[in-house]
Amino acid sequence: MSIKIAQRIVIFTGAGVSAESGLSTFRDPEGIWAKYRIEEVATPVAWKRDPQKVLDFYNARRRQLLQVAPNMAHYALAGLEEHFEDVRIITQNVDDLHERAGSTRVLHLHGELRKVRSTRYPELVYPWDDDLHLGDLCERGYQLRPHIVWFDEEVPLLPDAADLTRQADIFIVVGTSLAVYPAASLAYYAFEEISCYYIDPNPQVNWEMRRLKNLKIVAKPATEGVPMVVEELKKRFNIPA
Ligand code: APR
Repeated sequence: MSIKIAQRIVIFTGAGVSAESGLSTFRDPEGIWAKYRIEEVATPVAWKRDPQKVLDFYNARRRQLLQVAPNMAHYALAGLEEHFEDVRIITQNVDDLHERAGSTRVLHLHGELRKVRSTRYPELVYPWDDDLHLGDLCERGYQLRPHIVWFDEEVPLLPDAADLTRQADIFIVVGTSLAVYPAASLAYYAFEEISCYYIDPNPQVNWEMRRLKNLKIVAKPATEGVPMVVEELKKRFNIPA
């Protein structure tokens, strides 16, 4: 087995990394939020007012997720684990395409579409690939809900993501509009001298990213930009192609 480079690479991804797999982004002109209203499908108030509508929304997205596959960007990121000791993905995505591509350490800031949890006991989380219905209950008899962090809800894994980012040697941001806080604040925790890449065809550098002195913007789709950056890192650390 070859020796791995002792670097921590933290990769922060958004909907753009999965766009070329066929999953819509949120804020592009054809995005999900152009077709649905956030307040009707992705908040605790929506769930209280019309849970069926919320379930319909996530059931449709879960069905779609089961029909798509990882793309070259997911695979290129997973491939970093062959060469670098500590590769962490922090994703805002609720899909599991990073895992299916082979990434082993993935933190889902906004939850996971293929899981559901108890509305009463949030620690009761279950894998779930079918439609979720009203009347589907946890083992203690309470309604199940999508395992998703909705707008107006706390982001429980943010402190863990911030800790990972503080220790990063290299920070790579892919396919996110950096518009939704607190997730979009993640770059704030990175040491300002580290090397950083932002891969997005329409990059929107927020002030937290602007702090980073060695920020390189790669204004390309993920399937082009990510393999390019991976090649650049391999060259930098003398890893044979
Ligand atoms: N490759 C890379 N990036 C792309 C591609 C592509 N092929 N196509 C589009 N993008 C970029 C867009 O330019 C945009 O910057 O992906 C980004 C998508 O931004 P959003 O739709 O805002 O998605 P994201 O940043 O992940 O949203 C954050 O908002 O609605 C919530 O909870 C949801 O996790 C989501 C959060």
